[in-house]
Amino acid sequence: MPEQILPDRLTIASIRAWKNARAPLVCLTAYTAPMAQILDPHCDILLVGDSIGMALYGMDNTLGVTLETMIAHGRAVMSKARTACVLIDMPYGTYEDTPQQAYESARRLLIETGCDGVKLEGGHEMAETIRYLAAKDIPVMAHIGLKPQSVVKEGGYKIKGKTGEEAEALMEDAKAVEAAGAFALLIEGTVEPVARAITQSVDIPTIGIGASPACDGQILVTEDMLGLITDHTPKFVKKYVNLAEEITKAVETYAADVRSRAFPDESHTYGSAKKAKAQ
Ligand code: KIV
Repeated sequence: MPEQILPDRLTIASIRAWKNARAPLVCLTAYTAPMAQILDPHCDILLVGDSIGMALYGMDNTLGVTLETMIAHGRAVMSKARTACVLIDMPYGTYEDTPQQAYESARRLLIETGCDGVKLEGGHEMAETIRYLAAKDIPVMAHIGLKPQSVVKEGGYKIKGKTGEEAEALMEDAKAVEAAGAFALLIEGTVEPVARAITQSVDIPTIGIGASPACDGQILVTEDMLGLITDHTPKFVKKYVNLAEEITKAVETYAADVRSRAFPDESHTYGSAKKAKAQ
């Protein structure tokens, strides 16, 4: 069998070097093989995010997502990603205790899925862990600003950087994770002036979600931008299509067809008696 020639995958080094170089990085979440196949040609980064808890599993937040879930979905995405760089979120409870715990979890994500790197939530408090992982050649994207894994502790999803104190703390976080060896920085739910100042102050690319156009790249939860999540749409989400509506129309038509026996017709039937009779 001839060897399959694949186009080049975007490497961690090329993402790291993206800063100021080209158009903003295009990033989306992906959890399944079919979605990865559709998104891959258009994206620089596919993130197997722990938002999977809400987007696919009906959870209230990301806290119940397990490492096993991330590994299973990471494998599915890796089976179809060809050129995008694939990152996987480290779920709550799998990396915060010690750098060694983080290493064991990150190692499993990389070895068992073949993904390119991991993302973890935290700023200066995770710097030692990021340094430890980077020294062991595990690429880490840090996630600061609004951190969904802290939602219960903080009593909700709160936009960050509104006070001088918060802005300063976020800048310190960004500098700490950069110095520790993070190759990129995701900034979530943060006011524009702070996201801009951070982006201008660090040499690693910043990826924003609800963090203004000032960032070096943008990410959205795919199910949000496709209009598949109907419960709540945050301000920062732009719905590019309303798939929930499209699916509803399709399913209504299917249900009517089944009930009226319009489906299946001969074209969907094996060894149709009707067809045999006509011949
Ligand atoms: O889990 C996730 O989808 C995220 C978003 C910020 C993109 O981390």
